[in-house]
Amino acid sequence: MKIEIENNYEEISKRAARITAREILVREDPVLGLPTGDTPKGMYELLVEYYQSGLIDFSKVKTFNLDEYYPMSKEDPNSFGRYLEERLLSKVNIGEDNIHLIDGSVPRDQVETYCGNYEEKIDNLGRADLSILGIGENGHIAFNEPGSGFQTATRLVDLEEGTIRRNFENPDEAPNKAITVGIKTIMNSGKILLLAAGEQKSKAIEKSVAGPVTEEWPASILQLHPNVTFLLDEKAANF
Ligand code: GLP
Repeated sequence: MKIEIENNYEEISKRAARITAREILVREDPVLGLPTGDTPKGMYELLVEYYQSGLIDFSKVKTFNLDEYYPMSKEDPNSFGRYLEERLLSKVNIGEDNIHLIDGSVPRDQVETYCGNYEEKIDNLGRADLSILGIGENGHIAFNEPGSGFQTATRLVDLEEGTIRRNFENPDEAPNKAITVGIKTIMNSGKILLLAAGEQKSKAIEKSVAGPVTEEWPASILQLHPNVTFLLDEKAANF
């Protein structure tokens, strides 16, 4: 486990963008697991800049997203698919066939099959070379909330109250479920980069890097990954 502490959010974004750009540059067929949330926004901006300046090329890049609210239409401004399209995918030369978004509008009775197929798709891509993660204040990674088993694959999950409240202005209108890749899916990535900024993340970081490995703090499992970097600002690292 590597812990890198940067001075501020801009530095985290720059470092994350450079690590991702390197992965794209050195691999024939790079496969990236992509996060949403506030934390990776700066990184996506820089990746688009690197693409526009000719530094990186996305024509061979394959991506899958880590989670999506359920139910959720892709057109909804809160959709993670839309977030990724707007911030990265529509701005670079990635092929449509190489983009794997989770569809939050699958009918309820087809969700299990859909999740199995999504997991298989990731397998067929050869797993992620690099998965980039944020972290919830309760230690969730993707939408694997506390109590998620370490053997979990892509599935439908219930979200905690705090997770729903944090992401929606009006929690009454928010979906209380999500489809997420599992802990096992994440742990199967060749490399993992977890980004965290701000003091509100410091407890989750402490539990993840310095506490016991426990399902109560899902990100703590990352301690067992052979190639994981926690990229933190000083506030998130201040525990
Ligand atoms: C969200 C997402 C996670 C994300 C996390 C942190 O609920 N499902 O994938 O990493 O919460 O988000 P933020 O970066 O906005 O703090």
